[in-house]
Amino acid sequence: MPLVLITHTLPERWLAALDGHCRMLVGPADATRLAPELEAHLADADGLFTLLTIPVNQALLDRAPRLRVVSNMAVGVDNIDLAACTRRGVPVGNTPGVLTEGTADLTMAILLAAARRLLEANADARAGRWITWSPTGWLGADLNGANLGIIGMGKIGKAMAERARAFGMHILYSDPQPQPELEAHLQATHLPLDELLELSDFVSLHTPLTSLTHHLIGEPQLRHMKPTAILVNTSRGPVVHTEALVQALQKGWIAAAALDVTDPEPLPPNHPLYSLPNCLVVPHIGSATRDTRRAMAERACLNLLSGLRGERLPFCVNPEVYAQNI
Ligand code: DGY
Repeated sequence: MPLVLITHTLPERWLAALDGHCRMLVGPADATRLAPELEAHLADADGLFTLLTIPVNQALLDRAPRLRVVSNMAVGVDNIDLAACTRRGVPVGNTPGVLTEGTADLTMAILLAAARRLLEANADARAGRWITWSPTGWLGADLNGANLGIIGMGKIGKAMAERARAFGMHILYSDPQPQPELEAHLQATHLPLDELLELSDFVSLHTPLTSLTHHLIGEPQLRHMKPTAILVNTSRGPVVHTEALVQALQKGWIAAAALDVTDPEPLPPNHPLYSLPNCLVVPHIGSATRDTRRAMAERACLNLLSGLRGERLPFCVNPEVYAQNI
């Protein structure tokens, strides 16, 4: 039976589809790199089941000559050197679709939390600073009638736009591909990035991390935003320049940020972003619902099994790998 390295311990039922089809070597639940006990078996591995925290690079591939499939339990694949996998003829799978709604829910949740200053209000209530009903206390921002700028109008961007429309927001978006049907459906307006930043009361990031989107939001972009604007990031940390964001929040270039993803990740406990009352940070939990995570694992198993059988992966991010093999 083929040998599969599973980089992290996961609930057994999530991996039930693999039973009887492969031998599995499983890493620790909290692995931050490929565990040494798995690394030792790279030379014999036919498949690799990874999470988004494990880099799959040329060095790893060089040590895994038998590898036939990499299955990432995530929609984002920025942890994987796709070009190197393609050169080696290794198809890479991801888990699109199943985390769209959950991630959009979390985006809305942290946007609302930042808009209504829930972090500060909760801290003040717990610390005894809730003296009376205060007409001027904890004043936040309205969603109704506000402009939401969505950067990256893929599946999650669209799901976020749907939610925002229900809150009475106007949708602006920036994406390499304008989408006229969507514009009619959501009354969304396609804009160049600069204009979107200038006009938005909230900016929500939904791009994949690529060489083009790395530090897409840095000092010039943050300075371009309204001083009352709120930045929301549930995409990937490095899409935002972290030091510039700290300055923007300290100096009032923007009003607040709500982050599900950071750079670095995890953000160390002494990081300046934690000391800012106008910055909400949660630990990359966009897809963290019971059903979503199970569905992601199931999709990752499907990709893995297809790869082991030599079949086309149902969710393949480097389909060019097949063209070169045929
Ligand atoms: C993904 O799948 O890329 C998400 O970031 C997981 O939450």
